Amino acid sequence: MSSRLELKTISHRYSDAKEDVLKDISLTVEASRSVALLGASGSGKSTLLRVAAGLENPAAGKVLVDGEDLAGTPPDRRGIALVFQNPLLFPHLNVVDNVAFSARMAGFSRRRARRQALEYLDLVQLQDFAHRHPWQLSGGQEQRVSLARALARQPRLLLLDEPFSSLDSRLREDMYNLVSLIREQLEPTIVMVTHDRREASVLADSIAVLDTGRILQHGPVPQLHYRPDSLAVSRILGGLNEIPGEVTGGIHSSALGRIKVQDTVDDGAAYLVIRQETVNLVSAGTGVVDGSIASIKSMGAHTLVTLTIDNGSTAKPAVRISAEVVGAPDLSIGELVGVDFEKSAAWAVNS
Ligand SMILES: Nc1ncnc2c1ncn2[C@@H]1O[C@H](COP(=O)(O)OP(=O)(O)O)[C@@H](O)[C@H]1O
Ligand SMILES: [Mg+2]
Repeated sequence: MSSRLELKTISHRYSDAKEDVLKDISLTVEASRSVALLGASGSGKSTLLRVAAGLENPAAGKVLVDGEDLAGTPPDRRGIALVFQNPLLFPHLNVVDNVAFSARMAGFSRRRARRQALEYLDLVQLQDFAHRHPWQLSGGQEQRVSLARALARQPRLLLLDEPFSSLDSRLREDMYNLVSLIREQLEPTIVMVTHDRREASVLADSIAVLDTGRILQHGPVPQLHYRPDSLAVSRILGGLNEIPGEVTGGIHSSALGRIKVQDTVDDGAAYLVIRQETVNLVSAGTGVVDGSIASIKSMGAHTLVTLTIDNGSTAKPAVRISAEVVGAPDLSIGELVGVDFEKSAAWAVNS
């Protein structure tokens, strides 16, 4: 169940469209790894999965699985299972026969196909529901059956298209645990589509950020969070402060002062990007810079505190920096506090 997927310079255009929806996309997913495609609605995520699954023929480029070019291989011969947001179970079949379906199609006896289906239902913790019909299941249970059905095909690749986005947040957490269990037990190669950065971070080893049909950056989850290539990527990941300034010889100068950044950033205008949860609030005068508290927003177990930093100029707009702190700090609007963060990990992007 673990193959290597290579998408090579894929472009695609729907027949009635003026523009390509996929533009020269290259992406490699190593065997047993899980990659999340993260992007806004309409960015081309589903189309890319459909191309991999053979449901769309790309205008250009290749889909390779374990080095084999799948051009001309029909969807049902690719060994690729696709799970959608909407489970699409067969309403006239009970749960076990839904899961046994592809084994039956492959010519296995009913007994054998059901026996194998029960093993997958066990994996998704639904063995007791084998004889129910789809309409007797909750949304979360239906989605688990749909996962069991996909896994029972013993696919070379498992493609998941926003499979949990219609579930409530608690059920979604259950599904995340289930995916982790499936990863431990079967080690499938997974490509999953999501517009939720937290879901991408929890379920995947790496994230590929898609924007209007292009991959802006693909890398390990921490790299995308702490070392984005561009402002566009950092905005899609969310939760980053953007401090405008200027880079000269690897030093970023801004209202926060002079801070050494990575030496790959170009001289000129650049934003220092700092994750909100890595900013600490300290006593005034003891941090990197002081700021006055402009807003305090409770996020439940965390609080988002936004400060205004005096940039010594009335002409330039005030610089703001937010800190996500644990609990409910005892602070008030207008109070002067220090801002501190790990300067050795400072990261800047040119645009
Ligand atoms: N069958 C189709 N025919 C024409 N245009 C389509 C079709 N499917 C999707 N599109 C368009 O292609 C773009 C990408 O769609 P899609 O891949 O579904 O994005 P995402 O999954 O990221 O929301 C959108 O602009 C969408 O309207
Ligand atoms: Mg989609």
